[in-house]
Amino acid sequence: MFKHTDLPPSALFLLFFSAHFLLTPIDCASDVSAVSVNMKQIQAIESYLDLNENPCENYYAYACGNWAHQHSSEHYTEATSLIDHKVNKRLIDYFQNYQLQSDANSGNQTYTDKIWLYYRACKHVKERQLQRYLELVRPSAHLDWQLMHQLRAPNTTWPAGHFNWLFTLAKLRRYSFGDTLISHVISPKSANASVYVLDLDKPTKEEENKLPSMETIAVILLRVGVPKLRAIVVAKQLHEFERQLQKLHDIDDEHGLLEITLRDLQADMPQMPWRLYVQLVLGHEVGLDYELQISNWNYFLALGEFLKHTKDSLICNYVMFKFLSFLVRDGASSFSKVDCMWDVRTKMDVAVNFLYKQQFYGGDSAAKYEADIERILTSAKREFAAKLDANAMQLRPAQLQYLKRKLGAMRFNIGNLPSTVDEHFVNAYYAGVHISHKDYYKNHLQLLQLNARKEHAQLTTPPASAADYFYIGDSDSARSCTPFYLFRRNLIVIPYAILQPPMFHINMHDILKMGLLGFVLTHEIIHGLSYDYAGNEQEIGERITRNAQFESSLKCLQQIETESVDERIANIVGLRVAFDALFGANATMNARQPSFSAIPAKRLFFLSFAQFFCGNLLSEFTDHDADNVRLQQTLLNFEPFAEEYQCTLGDAMNPERKCKLY
Ligand SMILES: *[C@@H]1O[C@H](CO)[C@@H](O)[C@H](O)[C@H]1NC(C)=O
Ligand SMILES: *[C@@H]1O[C@H](CO)[C@@H](O)[C@H](O)[C@H]1NC(C)=O
Ligand SMILES: *[C@@H]1O[C@H](CO)[C@@H](O)[C@H](O)[C@H]1NC(C)=O
Ligand SMILES: *[C@@H]1O[C@H](CO)[C@@H](O)[C@H](O)[C@H]1NC(C)=O
Ligand SMILES: [Zn+2]
Repeated sequence: MFKHTDLPPSALFLLFFSAHFLLTPIDCASDVSAVSVNMKQIQAIESYLDLNENPCENYYAYACGNWAHQHSSEHYTEATSLIDHKVNKRLIDYFQNYQLQSDANSGNQTYTDKIWLYYRACKHVKERQLQRYLELVRPSAHLDWQLMHQLRAPNTTWPAGHFNWLFTLAKLRRYSFGDTLISHVISPKSANASVYVLDLDKPTKEEENKLPSMETIAVILLRVGVPKLRAIVVAKQLHEFERQLQKLHDIDDEHGLLEITLRDLQADMPQMPWRLYVQLVLGHEVGLDYELQISNWNYFLALGEFLKHTKDSLICNYVMFKFLSFLVRDGASSFSKVDCMWDVRTKMDVAVNFLYKQQFYGGDSAAKYEADIERILTSAKREFAAKLDANAMQLRPAQLQYLKRKLGAMRFNIGNLPSTVDEHFVNAYYAGVHISHKDYYKNHLQLLQLNARKEHAQLTTPPASAADYFYIGDSDSARSCTPFYLFRRNLIVIPYAILQPPMFHINMHDILKMGLLGFVLTHEIIHGLSYDYAGNEQEIGERITRNAQFESSLKCLQQIETESVDERIANIVGLRVAFDALFGANATMNARQPSFSAIPAKRLFFLSFAQFFCGNLLSEFTDHDADNVRLQQTLLNFEPFAEEYQCTLGDAMNPERKCKLY
């Protein structure tokens, strides 16, 4: 569900790509008393248990056995969709009787006006008109898409001479479309995270970045008006074209990441006018000394050569189709209230986050939540620092110091807004956007343009202070309702959506807090070892993972193979840290047996943690192992778990050999 296609894979980690969360129907966040919030949480936990299962043999079956049954009648399969749905509903209610604050045509819309107008225009769409996008955005000012031209003027020739694929990509990049033929992202410089640089690479090989089946392509082309036979021919051509591109994709690269000036880039790739490309994207002149980053040099050379021998009309059709696919994926999935609200949230994330903060979260509670998260994170950091002192991994003093400094500097941002955010800031942020009350497509494109402008502005604006930094990302990260760690910033972003039951509540018992949100945070702090306190990549950090102790732990973890060993490490260490922050000798959190449950404190912690992973196991897992595997692999390596459930050595959940890290 959440995927970061536009980011270098190392840019951030999302914890729960596809986990299923604890579900329990609970009222509005702010007015739940301590007793009721805890009682409801316990009721949910108990309702998921399957007491016929042996916790020492299969904890997943024990803790989650009844989950699917409890949720069989709902259409959410995960709690992430539940908490998101709650946010959507609140916003939908808020806009139910909304009155425009500005005169409709005054050109002076407030940010809430814009949210509402976008939402309204979306709801009013009857059927998606894809060709509208193609009318609004063309390959260049004086050139139409080849297929559209053919429809408009069937007996005239499309002026291929006016088409330049690189300039068309530049134009489309201004609409945030940047992962076809080349990948173009704005990323922190590898040596200095506070400086941004334009980064070129081959496109990502994600499944969703591939063309759909020929049938689907043909259907979409039919919908924009292309005659049937032509649509079928083009669909075939596009597939063949992509097959050729795949070959280029597999070309080895011996150069790694290069920092290069436009002068040198153009000298080595004379057929690609990169300077004009950059100027078109940025909208201003740049000198030949302008520096950027490029990876997969050989791919670019081969691409230039390949495209030189490809018909322009075919390249144009390919780019057009990929652009349409991008817009479909990025736009509202349907035009229902909920999907439209969902769409506004991702397109206008700064505005919606601010509105949410003002309406549903602000005032006293904002400060209280902030302080409580701080308390949880501080305990977790202290606990991890104590583990570093104990130095079970036998790290060198410099390595320990490196990790501690990183840990000390790690911060969080609730709601992904700058600390000084106010209404003025938000209105100014959207100043260049005028939302139409009826043209969804135009609105969509405008917001994509705004996002691209904001991204690119980072190249020239001085770095934001730590407190005022917020992440300007793609729709996918704006869509995340679970925390993610930006390790180039050493910053954990915590979306508002997760700060409500069943994931979190200020009045929840510490044991439940640590099992849920506490674990999510401890998990995140384990990621990104090779980036230092300031987010710069360091050799010393990488060397940690090559230390003998670490390597033997990694080997141990791979006994049950995983493609996401980093995740497994984060889960195992995260669990240990969360557990010890509660029950450890120096813990300051409240781990006393709660009066509202007869389940012993430690078991309550494990259940609360485990039920994070509960689900119907029907989803596909791409970045993570399946939920049951993740849960089992985490717990069976954790001694205190077996102790608490008095498992016999050799039980499935209590193997003789446990992998230990830190
Ligand atoms: C827009 O409205 C705001 C507040 O209503 C006002 O302060 C501002 O001057 C207006 N700007 C324009 C350009 O009309
Ligand atoms: C295009 O050409 C075909 C035959 O070559 C002819 O039948 C048709 O009327 C022409 N269409 C237009 C719009 O000129
Ligand atoms: C990173 O760049 C900023 C801005 O140019 C500069 O002030 C800072 O000293 C640089 N940091 C490092 C570690 O080079
Ligand atoms: C608790 O803190 C003391 C003093 O800092 C330290 O010596 C001890 O190792 C800590 N114990 C644990 C389990 O972290
Ligand atoms: Zn993770």
